[in-house]
Amino acid sequence: MVSPLRPRRDYELKSVVAVAGHPVHVMLVNFPIALTSATLGSDLFYWWSGDAFFARTALWTSGWGFALGVASAVSGSAELILAPGIRRRPEVWSHAIAAMMLLAVIGANWALRLVYGIEAALPWGLFLSFLGFGAVGLAGWHGGKLVFEHQIGMEIEER
Ligand code: HEM
Repeated sequence: MVSPLRPRRDYELKSVVAVAGHPVHVMLVNFPIALTSATLGSDLFYWWSGDAFFARTALWTSGWGFALGVASAVSGSAELILAPGIRRRPEVWSHAIAAMMLLAVIGANWALRLVYGIEAALPWGLFLSFLGFGAVGLAGWHGGKLVFEHQIGMEIEER
């Protein structure tokens, strides 16, 4: 029976890229969020202490943050391609655009450090780390809205 308190869902929002019902995208996104935050933290410590250890840490956190951000985007895009119910929701496309902006920023941050080494950390590395932190906050907050507000990716039984 359909609850009178909840509008009827006329199409499926359940995740299709999942392991034992747990969406792969949701498992992966924690890594770029944590690593992008750690990159900003490392840059701030480098700025404060001048210890090159923190500049080298930022090279690794930015690189892994970008790689796992790409993996997150692949799993999110697979949901878009494979689940018609998810694909037809405009909120998911806004989230994808925010995620692409995020990947551009964190990819540039990593590339800068690869090419110019430790010298890249100040000031442009730090600038990109602040930008990346803002972008990951926006994409992550919006991703949370998809799930907790719009119930995208959730498996809900109607009663
Ligand atoms: C083209 C790229 C992306 C697409 C199409 C996409 C799509 C989605 C979809 C459909 C969901 C709902 C849950 C699910 O069905 O798995 C979601 C949730 C989410 N996404 Fe993305 N996503 C993309 C990239 C990213 C990236 C790079 C991040 C990294 C910050 C991210 C962060 C999140 C978060 C935090 C959630 C909420 C997870 C939760 O806590 O329940 N997404 N995304």
